Amino acid sequence: MDPRRLLLTMSKPNDFDAVRQDVRSILKKKDYDHGSIGPVLVRLAWHASGTYSKEDDTGGSNGAGMRYEEEGGDPANAGLQEARKFLEPVKERHPWITYADLWTLAGVEAVRAMGGPDIPWKSGRTDFANTKYLPPRGRLPDGALAQDHLRDIFYRMGFNDQEIVALSGAHNLGRCHKTRSGFDGPWVVNPTRFANTYYRFLLNLDWKPRNWDGPFQYSAYAPGMDDDDEPLMMLPTDYALVQDEKFRPWVEKYAADQKLFFEDFSKVFAKLIELGVYRDEDGIARCDKRDAKGSYISAPKKSGVQSSL
Ligand code: HEM
Repeated sequence: MDPRRLLLTMSKPNDFDAVRQDVRSILKKKDYDHGSIGPVLVRLAWHASGTYSKEDDTGGSNGAGMRYEEEGGDPANAGLQEARKFLEPVKERHPWITYADLWTLAGVEAVRAMGGPDIPWKSGRTDFANTKYLPPRGRLPDGALAQDHLRDIFYRMGFNDQEIVALSGAHNLGRCHKTRSGFDGPWVVNPTRFANTYYRFLLNLDWKPRNWDGPFQYSAYAPGMDDDDEPLMMLPTDYALVQDEKFRPWVEKYAADQKLFFEDFSKVFAKLIELGVYRDEDGIARCDKRDAKGSYISAPKKSGVQSSL
């Protein structure tokens, strides 16, 4: 962009509403998937956060570690380079925002723009300056597995069974891509509209193993679809939610009550994007909590005295 034009479109630091509006303005993309980049932005916010481990307090949405190959190149993150690229013009117009804030805010704004609930969002995440604090690969869930795996992964982040089911409702959005995860297809008929259809379809459609040369996944048609339509899909981890006796009651609740789902999704997504973010009294996140206790040197205070916290 012409630097003079860029200056005109730049927002003032901390004008997060300007960033929200800008994110909204880029969501529609005619030739992309189902016409919106909203779903992949939601997935970006989730994968930025879902590396958190409460066991050693590492990972989480602070740092924007996916900018580095070690994290960005994790096969679980395949395709998210597209999402990050889509957000580059927004970052260019609002250079003061950190990537870690931008990725989480874009997810929140995308959910809202697609008809979902408002999700509380706080700024203050910082971007790592190096790879020192990157979480190891392999912390994100594997769709080919089932309930024990879901519990291992999400309990590690600090979530309970109800929260696992509520978070999974994000699969009302977007689709699987053969070239990214190996799986294929959308979960619902209208995958750019946030709703509780995912739970209703999980319970009510006739899911059968898909007969194809890809990984094991479930396949079904919704009423009104015909053989020419692309079939809907469920991952083994999605289907585990109706097979497991503790998960299933929550699927039933959310299928019957969209308002409850929206309320619970808002709370749990807000919790997700706060994982691993420890803010100073000024609201700015430290790179790492252990550093806050140990060797982190904060910016000089007004008195000019450097404090070692
Ligand atoms: C429960 C464990 C989960 C597993 C195993 C899982 C797995 C997957 C897989 C395999 C894909 C397809 C990726 C591709 O091929 O492009 C996907 C897409 C997606 N996931 Fe999940 N996911 C899980 C949880 C979540 C959570 C917690 C969220 C958000 C709260 C989420 C949001 C999404 C979205 C929005 C997409 C669509 C992306 C697009 O359209 O490009 N997922 N997930």
